[in-house]
Amino acid sequence: MTDLKTELGEAVVAAFAAEGVDAALARVTPSDRPDLADFQSNGALAAAKALKANPRELAARVAARLEGDPRLASIEIAGPGFINLKVADAALAKRAENVAADAERAGAAVVDEARKVVIDYGGPNVAKPMHVGHLRSAIIGESLKRLFRFRGDEVTGDAHFGDWGFQMGLLIVACGDEGLADAFMVEGDGPFPAESPVTLADLDRLYPLAAGKAKEDPAFRDRARKATAELQGGRPGYRALWQHFVAVSREALKREYGDLSVDFDLWNGESDADPLMPEMLEHLKATGLLVEDDGAQVVHVARPGETRKKKLPDGSVIEAPSPPPLLVISSEGSAMYGTTDLATILDRKKAIGPDLALYVVDERQAEHFEQVFRAAYLAGYAADKSLEHLGFGTMNGQDGKPFKTRAGGVLKLRDLIDQATDKARERLKEAKLGDDLSPDEFEAIAHKVAIAALKFADLSNARTTSYVFDLDRFMSFEGKTGPYLLYQAVRIRSLLRKATDQGLAPGAIVIGEPAEHDLALTLDAFSQATVEAYEKRMPHVVAEHAYRLAQSFSKFYAACPVLIAPDEATKASRLALSKAALDQLVIALRLLGIDTPERM
Ligand code: ARG
Repeated sequence: MTDLKTELGEAVVAAFAAEGVDAALARVTPSDRPDLADFQSNGALAAAKALKANPRELAARVAARLEGDPRLASIEIAGPGFINLKVADAALAKRAENVAADAERAGAAVVDEARKVVIDYGGPNVAKPMHVGHLRSAIIGESLKRLFRFRGDEVTGDAHFGDWGFQMGLLIVACGDEGLADAFMVEGDGPFPAESPVTLADLDRLYPLAAGKAKEDPAFRDRARKATAELQGGRPGYRALWQHFVAVSREALKREYGDLSVDFDLWNGESDADPLMPEMLEHLKATGLLVEDDGAQVVHVARPGETRKKKLPDGSVIEAPSPPPLLVISSEGSAMYGTTDLATILDRKKAIGPDLALYVVDERQAEHFEQVFRAAYLAGYAADKSLEHLGFGTMNGQDGKPFKTRAGGVLKLRDLIDQATDKARERLKEAKLGDDLSPDEFEAIAHKVAIAALKFADLSNARTTSYVFDLDRFMSFEGKTGPYLLYQAVRIRSLLRKATDQGLAPGAIVIGEPAEHDLALTLDAFSQATVEAYEKRMPHVVAEHAYRLAQSFSKFYAACPVLIAPDEATKASRLALSKAALDQLVIALRLLGIDTPERM
């Protein structure tokens, strides 16, 4: 089902083509003057230069070709040669009916050819606390996963759990030093206790301690490095202990992500690519890509001539390759962050065979991904351009620096959600919402409002920009916020319930009033919003649409009474429009990872 804007765009392109104008110049966009027109095409201006024609005359010839199209109520030439189009109410009514009948997709098109897509997001680490980068990755990644799936792709979301790096060696040594895990410290094949010797609280305490110690105490750091290499090398006691770390962490993270409505298809970790390591190293060696460099093994990824200035410790400046080589095996013999990423690409190629892999990770890791992707292309582990790093800005505190909790520590997801839920309860009470609900229901709604506020605040910004954390603003029931959108959806639900109580049902849609015209145009625009968000990998386009829809509905509801409309046919038509608006709003919010309550 094609949307009206696209259909009209095609008609305009055809009319321009008949006048010898290239399709690229003949674009149709929403009108700059909604009071005068719905859409406009400025094609005649650009094309007239190329054709050495008078733009107004060219526009008039194109307009003449469009004359008589039943989907258009008017075609006018304005200014130096803009073509202004107004859509016919009957065509809009028909399109609105299609949207209304399509409860699952609200009129949104699917891709012509479905692809296999992997989305690598979340990326939390065992024991290391999450920071805002992990939070944003989870929120943006979840939305992209839903959006790609909605468009028809076959999508696998993978948490790519950080479970294989130096932090594991740190924890092993710290546990050993505190005598927490003596049974696991012995060499040999075990057996080792099946019960975890540590709790989540232990891990939360031990990691910062060990990380701090490693900074000051080189001997401790070296022991942790050695433990990391031994773990990766397969020392049974370390592996057994490590498995407990992973299980304890994963369970806690699953709960916290669950609270955020973030859900991974795969909870694979960096370690899952470990079995592929020997094969990968052998292949990289055989192809000559893996080379020795100062005791380490690296892959050179810069092309000849790609350099940048680099200052050496002695103060001299050299031209160094840029991006720098990918470190595959450190001089201690450990696999590094980039190594597991490269092996994971190979693993996914074998297990899934993705056409596209999207990495939703902090912009500050851009160089890391540039190195890994180049190495993967060189090694033939992924098709050219099939790997994309989708970076994002940070969520900042009022001081403009990456957000920290009130106590000054790094973010704890649990605390953030609790803090937001407190605020949501407060706001609901102020607005006298949910007064008549049971305490359980009220809690469930406060939770939904809190999550909607956090997620919408994040996703309404373009992915690449940073924004300031401001719970008061995020939680307002007015303005461009999650709570406002939930409130609008719940209002429509309540309207539809009243209609049912009165025995009214949605019926044929007739468009007459300007507010109905605008609402139908907005319903039409959803499909293109999902296409644009998908192509740019930018959820904020869907967020923008949700807001526009809520506002358009609000104006419609103020101008066009539904339950007390003058006649039964008008009631039925407006109910159908209301129901379509609700379905579309709920779907758009769902694409952002936001659940809509039944009432509040
Ligand atoms: N665990 C990493 C971190 O905390 C993020 C993982 C991102 N994904 C990846 N494939 N490298 O920085």
